[in-house]
Amino acid sequence: MSQKPATPLRLVVLISGNGSNLQAIIDEINNNDLPAQVVAVISNKAEAYGLERAKKANIQHHVLSNKDYSERSDYDAALKELIDSYQPDLIILAGFMRILSNEFVEHFSHKMMNIHPSLLPKHKGLNTHQRALDAGEKEHGCSVHFVTPELDDGPVILQAKTPVKDNDTAETLAARVHELEHRIYPQAIRLFAENKINQAE
Ligand code: GRF
Repeated sequence: MSQKPATPLRLVVLISGNGSNLQAIIDEINNNDLPAQVVAVISNKAEAYGLERAKKANIQHHVLSNKDYSERSDYDAALKELIDSYQPDLIILAGFMRILSNEFVEHFSHKMMNIHPSLLPKHKGLNTHQRALDAGEKEHGCSVHFVTPELDDGPVILQAKTPVKDNDTAETLAARVHELEHRIYPQAIRLFAENKINQAE
């Protein structure tokens, strides 16, 4: 079944840093008719540059600092409440550097996507570019997946690959993978908006 939504998909984007994926999504909405609207950006870090990007794009933005909560469950409850207040159709994790509790993840089951800089199921976790080099991978890339309680483990929606070159460093590889991320994250959101993802996975 493929149906264009009558109203744009409501997105809440969670960030912790630069927000270049957030920017790619904003640009795709503005320039290429991605049928979506970023209704809020939430960062757990006050210094995240992505907040500036939200401000420039006139998007509501919040800092919800984990330092203000001693218990993970309390932070997640506050985050859940803030997200729910925007009634989103889809939650986008875009460099949000927090492990989320099972309860939080299950509350947004099949409504929360993440982008991970590796060809999952390879190289879950951090330092993926260096680990791909160390493992002698011939190709590397990124994956958009639904978020499930286990870290970097949910059903993959889209992947993009780049060959690993002999003279690649973690930095050169990261730069190429980042470009791929900016391409496939908006594509995955488009697939979701057009009901083209098999949600039964
Ligand atoms: C990206 O590399 C993404 O794969 C990872 O965090 C990084 C976020 O980058 N989950 P940015 O903040 O979108 O520039």
